[in-house]
This record gives sequence, structure tokens and C-alpha cells, in this order.
Amino acid sequence: MNQDAKTRSQRAVRQLLESWQRSGVTYLRQMEPLPELPAETTSPVEAPQEKPVQTVAPTTPLPRQSIVPPPQPTETSEEPTLESEQARKEMSVPRTTKSKMNKGDRQAELDILATQVSKCTRCPELAETRTQTVFGVGNPRAKIMFIGEAPGADEDKQGEPFVGRAGKLLDKIIEACQMKRSDIYIANILRCRPPGNRNPTDLEASNCRGYLDAQIEIVDPDYIVCWGSVAAKNLLHSDLPIGKMRGDFYEYGRAKVVCTYHPSYLLRNPSAKKNVWEDMIYLFADMGINLKAQV
Ligand code: URA
Repeated sequence: MNQDAKTRSQRAVRQLLESWQRSGVTYLRQMEPLPELPAETTSPVEAPQEKPVQTVAPTTPLPRQSIVPPPQPTETSEEPTLESEQARKEMSVPRTTKSKMNKGDRQAELDILATQVSKCTRCPELAETRTQTVFGVGNPRAKIMFIGEAPGADEDKQGEPFVGRAGKLLDKIIEACQMKRSDIYIANILRCRPPGNRNPTDLEASNCRGYLDAQIEIVDPDYIVCWGSVAAKNLLHSDLPIGKMRGDFYEYGRAKVVCTYHPSYLLRNPSAKKNVWEDMIYLFADMGINLKAQV
């Protein structure tokens, strides 16, 4: 390409990015370099085909399920806001190839995103009532990512997920799995506390989805644990009760997803702790770690 053509194409790219920025796009996922293709295999008029979500061969005796395709925008009693429409557009297809980003770059991208989240007003009620946003915490290159529901009162005060009573129980589960909290990345479906700890609405979950997908994209975990039905339902677009979702691996892009009971449920129903322990054994067995031998 000669210098003039290069300058023209750089200007065109800059103009395109600026127009996206003006229309509200706040985050673009970093693409892996595209493989070189022989010239005759690409047509100048055809966009390259989107890679289908890949099914990884099962490595466990239990069947592996694909995630249900995302539903059409959910009907809610509330009018979708312009912001929620924007959030839907920002929903990225989960990555199917391993990220090559180093730890420092991932942390830098998470920091930029956290700053954007801290100013978010997509859900007016939550933006008005929160003390602060609760972005996420942990290892930016974690193999395992935990997804909970939404911050509660303690998290809203401290700005960190799972620091209240449920969080203390989660810490014990992490410890029983011979891990430290700092080994894992922890986030929620929502980044703001719903008043009175009510369940997130579909609209709120959809407003926040772009942020969650961006965190998954950056951290690029091998495994995701959905704690409770709100996390499982929202991440995987499934309406199955959590008890029915346990015991299988689901797919979210490159990550294998395990669904289990929420620690708050365990506080009310301690007898379900054994089920969560089974789910942890199942997850760690897939990583080649026998938790039973370690306790
Ligand atoms: N419950 C959640 O789901 N997330 C938190 O961060 C705290 C409690």
C-alpha cells in the first residue's frame, strides 16, 4: 500500500471509530490477529464467515450441553431505554480461541472498563441508589471465574463482590478447593445493588450484560461457575431450575460452565452444601484435580 492510501485508510478507520464513539460504543474487544489466507480464498465482496461456536470434546463422563441460543430481547413491563438497546448491541459473541493477552494488559483493560462502569447510569434506579458500583475482583488471568447475582449491602459499601455473609461462605468453599480468593476472578450479573436486595430485572441484567461479557472476554477463563439461578439463567439464557442445571458442563464460548447453588441459599439450606461440594469435585476433576484426595 502506498503512503497516500495508507493515510486515507487510517483516516477512514479513525472516522468510523469516532462515529461509533458518538453513538455510544464504549468498548471494543481486542481481536486476535487474523490468519493469513491465500488471496484466492477471500472474495473482496464477501465478509468472512463468523466462526461457529466450537464444541470441545467432552472430557467427563457426563454429557456436555451447548448453551441455548440467546433469546429475542425480553419483553418487560418497562420500556427499554436507549441505553439497554445499546447494551444489547454491545453483547459480544463469546470468544472461542484462547486470549494471548498478558496479565498486565488484561488488568489495564479491566481498569479501563471499571472506570466506565463506575459512571454507568443505564439503570436510573440503581445508579441513584447505589453507594458505588461493584465491578469485579481477582486474578485477571484466572482459570476459573465465579459469577454471582448482584451486590448486596456489604458489597455496595465495600465495592467488592462477595464480602458479606454469603461471601464468607464462598471463601470457605474456595479454601476447601485448595485455592485462594486471589486465584479466581469474581463478578456478578449486575454491578449495582438492587434496592432491598430484590432480584435483578431482565432489563437491568441486559443493561449490564455488555460489561460482564467484556470481563469474560478479557479474563478468558477456562471455567465459569454460575452461583445460583440468576447467574445461570442470565449467562446461559436457560429457564431450567438450578437443581436441574447442576451436574452438566455448559459452554459459553471457550469456557466450560458449571451451575450450582448460591451461597446465600446454602446459608438458608445447609444440607445443600454437599451438593455444591459434589459440583466442585466435578469441576476440579475436569481440570485433572481430585478434590476428594485432598480433604
Ligand atoms: N451475592 C451475590 O450474588 N453477589 C455478591 O457479590 C454478594 C452476594
